[in-house]
Amino acid sequence: MRISARKIERTFFRKTGQANFFYAVKETDFTLLEGNITGIIGRSGSGKTTFINMLCGLLRPTSGSIEVDGVDFITLDDDSASLLRNRKFGIIPQSQTPIQSFSVIENVMAPAFIYKSDLSREEVYNRAISLLSRLGIESLEDEYPSQLSGGELRRMAIARALINDPEVIIADEPTSDLDDKSTDAVLNLMRELAGEGKSVLIVTHDRDAEKICDVIYKMDGGVLKKDTETASK
Ligand SMILES: Nc1ncnc2c1ncn2[C@@H]1O[C@H](COP(=O)(O)OP(=O)(O)OP(=O)(O)O)[C@@H](O)[C@H]1O
Ligand SMILES: [Mg+2]
Repeated sequence: MRISARKIERTFFRKTGQANFFYAVKETDFTLLEGNITGIIGRSGSGKTTFINMLCGLLRPTSGSIEVDGVDFITLDDDSASLLRNRKFGIIPQSQTPIQSFSVIENVMAPAFIYKSDLSREEVYNRAISLLSRLGIESLEDEYPSQLSGGELRRMAIARALINDPEVIIADEPTSDLDDKSTDAVLNLMRELAGEGKSVLIVTHDRDAEKICDVIYKMDGGVLKKDTETASK
């Protein structure tokens, strides 16, 4: 699934000198391709999360257009945009968003019951366990989020994002709180997904994550450019 953004911008209200708004993202063109891992690097506050939130329809651009496989994402009403996102996108947010009253396995399985009905409970369970096991936390299936470490919660969020076999994976710093072994497991999984033809986008500060990317962009003050240091890849 291909996502194309044309001249997207996003302003937020904030007193900055004479103006009472600023550009978090400025006039950006971008295409996310199938079968590729695209990386976005950049300093804290440079606009990375704002940018990817617009790409997955969680945040409306102030101007510009976003097409998802030829469908104009921005003009869709909220219900249609949510349906498209929940069916086709696997989103790993930067902040932790577990459902506290659900166990680990219930957290991972929940999107399958909410957005897909064609798999049996057993099939969903097996898929959830297989993802947890790829990420090294299958033994935690019956624990609750408050009993997990930051890195374990992050891996649970990754399994949850992948339960519906999404065509697009958008991950905001998925390895930032992981050790080397877990980082390798996550990056291998991402590489495999791209190998299956999925479109993968990773925001990262992690040199190891950068190594697996086919192309890397740098966000600098709201402007996204191909990263010249890695452009030869
Ligand atoms: N809802 C909002 N309202 C106002 N300003 C915001 C909002 N969300 C983000 N910003 C501002 O927009 C700028 C870009 O924020 P963003 O979260 O996109 O940065 P980032 O590159 O993801 O940073 P980090 O690496 O720390 O996650 C920051 O200056 C931030 O303070
Ligand atoms: Mg961010």
